[in-house]
Amino acid sequence: MSSPPTLERRRRPLARSFRLGLFVAAVLGNATGLFAWQQVQHERRIDLEDVTSRSYALAQQLSARVSQALELPEEEARESLEGRLEGYRRLLGYAVFRADGRMVGAGTAMFDFARETEDASRAAMLSQQELVRVTRAAGARIHILAKPVPPAGTPAGALVVVHDVSYLDDRATARFSQYAFWILIETLLAIALVVGSTWLAYERPLSKLADWMRRLRVDNVAEAPPGLPTGQLRSESDRLAASFRAARSTGRALSEAAVHVEQVWTRDRLRAHAIASLGEANQLIVVSNREPYMHRRQDGKPRLMVPAGGLVTALDPVLEACGGLWIAHGAGEADRETADAAGRLTVPPGDPRYTLRRVWLTREEEQGYYYGLANEGLWPLCHLAHERPIFRVEDWEQYVRVNRRFADTVLEEAGASGAVILVQDYHLALLPRMLKSTRPDLRVGLFWHVPWPNPEAFRICPWAVEILDGMLGADLVGFHLQQYGNNFLDTVDRTIESRVDRDHFAVELRGSRTAVRPFPISVQPWVERNVPRDQELAGQIAAVREQHQLGDAFIAVGVDRIDYTKGLPERFRACERLLQLYPQYRGRFTLVQLGAPSRTHIPRYREYLDHLEALADEINWKYQTDRWKPIRFLIGHHDADTVYTYLHMAPMCIVSSLHDGMNLVAKEYVAAQAGGSGVLVLSEFAGASRELVDALIVNPYDIEQFAEAIRRGIEMPATERFARMQRMNAQIEANNIYRWAGNLLSELSRTQPSNVVSTTGS
Ligand code: G6P
Repeated sequence: MSSPPTLERRRRPLARSFRLGLFVAAVLGNATGLFAWQQVQHERRIDLEDVTSRSYALAQQLSARVSQALELPEEEARESLEGRLEGYRRLLGYAVFRADGRMVGAGTAMFDFARETEDASRAAMLSQQELVRVTRAAGARIHILAKPVPPAGTPAGALVVVHDVSYLDDRATARFSQYAFWILIETLLAIALVVGSTWLAYERPLSKLADWMRRLRVDNVAEAPPGLPTGQLRSESDRLAASFRAARSTGRALSEAAVHVEQVWTRDRLRAHAIASLGEANQLIVVSNREPYMHRRQDGKPRLMVPAGGLVTALDPVLEACGGLWIAHGAGEADRETADAAGRLTVPPGDPRYTLRRVWLTREEEQGYYYGLANEGLWPLCHLAHERPIFRVEDWEQYVRVNRRFADTVLEEAGASGAVILVQDYHLALLPRMLKSTRPDLRVGLFWHVPWPNPEAFRICPWAVEILDGMLGADLVGFHLQQYGNNFLDTVDRTIESRVDRDHFAVELRGSRTAVRPFPISVQPWVERNVPRDQELAGQIAAVREQHQLGDAFIAVGVDRIDYTKGLPERFRACERLLQLYPQYRGRFTLVQLGAPSRTHIPRYREYLDHLEALADEINWKYQTDRWKPIRFLIGHHDADTVYTYLHMAPMCIVSSLHDGMNLVAKEYVAAQAGGSGVLVLSEFAGASRELVDALIVNPYDIEQFAEAIRRGIEMPATERFARMQRMNAQIEANNIYRWAGNLLSELSRTQPSNVVSTTGS
């Protein structure tokens, strides 16, 4: 165990702050002291100039009489000046000298300064100029003005005016003491301010950071790093912690991985593998439009939500295993208040494993880039579901702009060091080229989660060339199926000037090379997730049966985003047809359809939802009884516990996509049936049908065949059901999400990051 930080260790940073305070105070004190000294000297000079002016005025008044007196013999001259040479207050008096240096007369106080006045008068007569001197004599500081008389021509004598200016010294001392007092106050304030602010802003957070690092090192604490003064430090410490935890478990992971059967990929094995594959880059950055954790506002408070969709389901466990950074659009209403100023937060909340960096988009950007180009254009373009894609030039402009925003954020986060960037999906097709044209050294992979259509279908996109060019900035482009990869190579071949290397599944474009590979995505084992088990699970199952009056009916479950590619009307119709053809299942079969509303700002999606509700009503109205409905359509966001409860309890799951890159619900169902004997009815147009060959494969457009498959599933002997499900389960266990990520990283680390050519049109 580690020892707690000692008092001595805590004191050191305070002493450092104090030394810094003293240094600042010394510099400040000296500078202001010097300034004060100069100020005092300046004021003293002004005071002396006042005395000089006054002396001139006095000498001027007397000089006519002195001039006359100097023309008289000795005695008469003295008499004519009698009483006029005395001073008062600071004026000590006057003295008059002849040209030969003899004194004609002087004020009484002047005899103490006989030598100084005589010297001054002689010098003035010699130079035939007025002369001012300030000197010390007889314990006083005196100001002397000597003026030749008459002022022009050969002087007949000189008039000397003497003032006592000792008070000016006293005044300067008093002024300086006053300044010194304020300088002292200012210096003390500066020390307090510097010590206080450096302690609060840097020393305390840094000492907490050191403490946290020590505990991370010694005790392996899982807590988030303390609040740190700069965003960069915060983000780096998050990453450091994630890498450190990953590195710590490498040894354990490697030995565990060695003990495990070769084929089984676990979270720890992926972690170890990621460290090796990242190599010097040592930094994994995932970029997607959709964020893995979203904060919505409910009853005025932020509420955490995990968005529906395969991308998040698949990638969150990868980031949890490897650590790193996930950059995504912060789309939740309460997203800003739950992240720091740079949009960062560590996730999953409560057990932070990686950093989420949210990118903020304006309403116009989101409308054009996400709803417009991505979901009204590229989504129907890639899915053959007979929906006409819509392409608007203003949506394209926002798409380019938002891709640039994401690129800037990635470059900022990657910093100067190397990084492996995994770009996700059709929202960010331009990102690989944008990244590479600035940082050719980054290793960039793009994974396309949706199907890739044939070249004829893709050609209708007005920006086909720009999109392909953007994608070919990547070192590696991944699809779920080889068939999508083949379509992609055909599309590239027919659309842009490049060399398609079909032997090695790669494209060479302007000197750079992009590998194209299939990576069938998969799911995380349910045992790793915090879902209900045993008694709790049994209680949940009983509760949902009760809540939706399911009785002992045979349950078929569907879990989908409400999207026209998912074949939901076809599914409803197939269930209706089952009840028409086989009336014995009325009252004994129920489809529970969990539907998460999706992209509802798009009119087509709203219409689709309305249509589905009306269709479910129509079918229910035809067949329902007081205690039973054939379709339970549960619209809303369903959390992982609820989804698992249904997937585990239902003896059948129906996936009827009209076209789907993979469809992870099919795999989630198989994983939830570990040791079970559920039947999967699966569309041949979902990518998952290539792996899950023991499912009952249907063409969802063929309602007769579809209904027949459902009947077959209900009536299938238990042994066959069990055998099929166990084979599919073994397939999913072996090819889980960790294997997917491991293969992707291995392939990416084999590529040469050489794509240096800049963008053409985007
Ligand atoms: C599909 C896409 C994902 C997307 C998901 C959910 O799986 O391939 O990129 O995240 O649908 O859709 P949404 O528009 O809500 O993100």
